Amino acid sequence: MQRHPSRSAWLGRLGIAMLALPMLGFAAYSLRFGLRGLGLDLSDETYIFTPDGPVPNLAVFSHMVLGAAAMVLAPLQLSARLRARFPGLHRGTGRTVVLFAMAVAIGGLVYIAVRGTIAGPLMDLGFALYGILMLIAAIQALRFARRGQYRRHQAWALRLFVLVMGSLLFRLHYAIWYLLTDGLWSNDELTGPFDQIQYFAFYLPYLVMLEVWIRRRAKTSVAASA
Ligand code: HEM
Repeated sequence: MQRHPSRSAWLGRLGIAMLALPMLGFAAYSLRFGLRGLGLDLSDETYIFTPDGPVPNLAVFSHMVLGAAAMVLAPLQLSARLRARFPGLHRGTGRTVVLFAMAVAIGGLVYIAVRGTIAGPLMDLGFALYGILMLIAAIQALRFARRGQYRRHQAWALRLFVLVMGSLLFRLHYAIWYLLTDGLWSNDELTGPFDQIQYFAFYLPYLVMLEVWIRRRAKTSVAASA
């Protein structure tokens, strides 16, 4: 008998389809910005470039390149059909995403430690927490896959997916907010009330929603097997 996908599966697919175009656009921007920063002197163009600062420059611009790659590869891991048909591909892409995500998180954390973010301590805190959570999710996803604990592997891989997409969600929140309010409570230094909420709002609420979904799914599957 053919099983029909559940309502939440359809909602998930719809969400991914709606994110696909902006995701590809942002990944291309991030890749280009990162490659230019690694090869050129961008001090006249962006405050992110540190003149005579090979460590922060390598950290921040390589995190953009690897982040773009992780963002494009991560959605492939969600397809149950691809997983079942090409398990070797799932493993290979999964390891690559985990490795890149770890490097992205470490690159961002090094940059925060050496240079700090544009808005200062509160933004440092929001972004450092983001990096630490990404590092933990990547390590846990790999650890549970290696142990063959697939339920737990899947939960951590989903957390990692949400975090990898967080960087895109940060920019999408701004695009929507500026469209609706013309930038109310926000400024170029990212120190306005809207900006301060964004230091955390691009990943924490999505992680909470995911936790609710993971727990509900666990209860449903226990009830179904009882
Ligand atoms: C897939 C993941 C990621 C991608 C694609 C990405 C991409 C980018 C890009 C393109 C920028 C340049 C700013 C802009 O033009 O918008 C940036 C800035 C930055 N990113 Fe990431 N990033 C990712 C994850 C992370 C993580 C996990 C951290 C934290 C450890 C982080 C920390 C930073 C910091 C501190 C800045 C500079 C902020 C500032 O002072 O303006 N990023 N990132």
